[in-house]
Amino acid sequence: MSKEYDTGDGVIRALDGVSLDLDDGEFLSIVGPSGCGKSTLMLIAAGLVPATSGTVTIGVTPVSRPVTNAGIAFQDATLYEWRRVLENVLLPVEIQRRDLKPFRRRARELLAMVGMADFERKYPFQLSGGMRQRVALCRALIHDPPLLLMDEPFGALDALSREQLNLELQDLWQQNRKTVLLITHSIQEAVFLSDRVAVMSPRPGRIAEIVAIDLPRPRTFDLIEAPEFGRYSRRIREVFASWGVFARGPERQAPARAR
Ligand SMILES: Nc1ncnc2c1ncn2[C@@H]1O[C@H](COP(=O)(O)OP(=O)(O)OP(=O)(O)O)[C@@H](O)[C@H]1O
Ligand SMILES: [Mg+2]
Repeated sequence: MSKEYDTGDGVIRALDGVSLDLDDGEFLSIVGPSGCGKSTLMLIAAGLVPATSGTVTIGVTPVSRPVTNAGIAFQDATLYEWRRVLENVLLPVEIQRRDLKPFRRRARELLAMVGMADFERKYPFQLSGGMRQRVALCRALIHDPPLLLMDEPFGALDALSREQLNLELQDLWQQNRKTVLLITHSIQEAVFLSDRVAVMSPRPGRIAEIVAIDLPRPRTFDLIEAPEFGRYSRRIREVFASWGVFARGPERQAPARAR
């Protein structure tokens, strides 16, 4: 599949010959340098942006319009500002025109799970960036979709909440075996959560390498210290380094400095 954007002063190629198959129930992460086309790929997979050439199919069905049976959590948590937290979480159920009643309890359970139990009646403007992402994650999970499409869903979270949500996502995934496509800037997060990690090249994005992560589950954060874990992370960093790009991610970020 490929994608070109007409930017007004020229056409840029964002994706070039990307081909990726997810197995049913698989957890696959994509890492790659900033601007390589990861979000573009996700938008195409979700049916929100058309590919210039090539197709996406979910099961046997080609994607030709926005998919409604997937859980979607994107980079900038887009909540509806005029809807309260609980109403935002329930949105996919409304879109599917299902009875809201049984889902209210589930929405509250999910919100409690991410520490947002006391916020269900707040409006998005009353929340921090990390809180908005938590709400977006609950919204992605509310209708128990078989497929989760997540573009840096934890990017705005502090390190501890992020680890907590990683564990919760792993639990949810193990219980329900959803097929997950996750984009992340954190190599650690990718290795920790995934069955396979696809490494994308700088723009125009291609799949440069796929690393199968053969580590037992359920995984705990002790595993991060294990030599095998280090070997997988190093392999992925080597691919980045081969382009002269260094992996960005919480574990690699220099501390912020005030000017
Ligand atoms: N709507 C658009 N119109 C024109 N160019 C676009 C558009 N969306 C993205 N691009 C360009 O396509 C390329 C890929 O963008 P994309 O957002 O997919 O990258 P990314 O890998 O998600 O980056 P990041 O890691 O920073 O989120 C970039 O060069 C970007 O400037
Ligand atoms: Mg992006």
